[in-house]
Amino acid sequence: MAKGLRKGLTSYGDAGFSLFLRKAFIKAAGYSDDALDRPIIGITDTASDFNPCHGNAPQLIEAVRRGVMLSGGLPMAFPTISIHESFAHPTSMYLRNLMAMDTEEMVRAQPMDAVVLIGGCDKTLPAQIMGAASAGIPAIVVPVGPMVVGHHRGEVLGACTDCRRLWGQHRAGKIDEAEIEVISGRLAPSVGTCMVMGTASTMACMIEAMGLSLPYSAAIPAPHAERLRSGEASGRAAVEMARRGGPAPKALLTAGSLRNAMTVLQAIGGSTNGLVHLAAIAGRVGLKVDLEEFDEIGRRVPVLVDLKPSGDHYMEHLHHAGGVPRLLQELEPHLDLDAPTVLGGTLADYLKLAEEVPGQTVIRPRSAPLKETGGMAVLRGNLCPGGAVIKHAAATASLLQHTGRAVVFDSVEDMTNRVDDPDLEVSAEDVLVLRNAGPKGAPGMPEAGYLPIPRKLAQQGVKDMVRISDARMSGTAFGTIVLHITPESAVGGPLALVRTGDRIALDVERRRLDLLVDEAELARRAAEVVPPRPAPKRGYAKLFHDTVLQADQGCDFDFLAGEDEE
Ligand code: FES
Ligand code: MG
Repeated sequence: MAKGLRKGLTSYGDAGFSLFLRKAFIKAAGYSDDALDRPIIGITDTASDFNPCHGNAPQLIEAVRRGVMLSGGLPMAFPTISIHESFAHPTSMYLRNLMAMDTEEMVRAQPMDAVVLIGGCDKTLPAQIMGAASAGIPAIVVPVGPMVVGHHRGEVLGACTDCRRLWGQHRAGKIDEAEIEVISGRLAPSVGTCMVMGTASTMACMIEAMGLSLPYSAAIPAPHAERLRSGEASGRAAVEMARRGGPAPKALLTAGSLRNAMTVLQAIGGSTNGLVHLAAIAGRVGLKVDLEEFDEIGRRVPVLVDLKPSGDHYMEHLHHAGGVPRLLQELEPHLDLDAPTVLGGTLADYLKLAEEVPGQTVIRPRSAPLKETGGMAVLRGNLCPGGAVIKHAAATASLLQHTGRAVVFDSVEDMTNRVDDPDLEVSAEDVLVLRNAGPKGAPGMPEAGYLPIPRKLAQQGVKDMVRISDARMSGTAFGTIVLHITPESAVGGPLALVRTGDRIALDVERRRLDLLVDEAELARRAAEVVPPRPAPKRGYAKLFHDTVLQADQGCDFDFLAGEDEE
């Protein structure tokens, strides 16, 4: 039963006085007693001038408010921090846990019976779910939705797979200054999140598949009227959740729904970041993402969604092809259909809504997949005892089994300084290695794993090389790129021991990544390793450094994982 304004009354003397004070202050904003005497629905306001992806958040808040009021609830929007990929230094990942803490504590502190989480840009939805899961009240996600596509000289463009591709052409001298300026105005033509299958789209699809948002909510384009109607419906659903007293995220985040999310992640050719965020979300309810299980799912679940960067299309096309419900229908044999949803039913209800769109080619049938196996594989080997990830769906097939000479960069800065040096000794067969770019090392595990092809090779037409690191990579990128090497080099992982000239063997079929150097030599090198840089002494940097977990545990802070003791 909704507690409304009475929730958590403890602070000022007796409970009656605390409620009296709350009423006195909220009435200062013009509310009547009648308005206050109903389920209160919090709505996170993550609009920010620094977050163009959330540019439609104000309209969505209005739509959610309308839905809440039509169902007899009282909507209360409140701000939390907002994180945009391009405007968060040193990385958005560095701030994800801060946003999760902000969301958790504000949801807990303020009186609300349910919360609507409006977010979308890469780190925001995982942060919000992590926070809401720990706060423990009913929550429903409203993604801001993907941008519509851009056009340039007859070509369809999307942020930010084409950002990288076209910038690569600019670096190789094929696109001049004037044209690249024009292109910068066409890559992201509307508000909303990147419209390829990057991290934002990946998370929105996984969240819908976990029943944390309404059917279709992942793919409706941000500027469409339908997006607002979905917001309104979410507001209504939140009131129902408040009245029923659930489900809270913990009830939705089950072993079955996590498996469903992993299945969808493989089938959409999703962002490798999805795996890190899923591990962090699972950790908040005392569950684990098993990398072996994820790999096993990838061996039997094909890539069905034909979106960039693994395929050809964009999120609006996924929506017009039937969206996530249609995809779930195609994935039916691989899913746990009893998984619960925000609507109080099960995932089976989402599938029932699925619409057949004649002639569409974006969501492939199981009988004719885009790729026979899933988008990602988990590697093991003496270079990555805690695992590493490769998105082989977006890699060059001929490089998936490759042995080459290591060319090592000691940090992101070292790489930036030297990668384009005409004197750098490097050939297309070499393996580029980046270290000290993990959760603690960089800090914040930047998306530096997409190491640029050295300029002199790019100019010769080299488009891909094997690149390995303890960093992450944007979901919008492509290439033969091994990421999330765990443990990272900054905590003494074997990556710290690699030297330029060593041989490294990648074998994706066998799921191996090995440094071909004998153990005695590695032990000798281990004794010589110096920690990369002094630990920060104060502030958030210290908290982050001291408590961030490794990639396989989602890079959450160690004290935030797990459940509260009752
Ligand atoms: Fe916000 Fe890509 S920058 S989703
Ligand atoms: Mg991204």
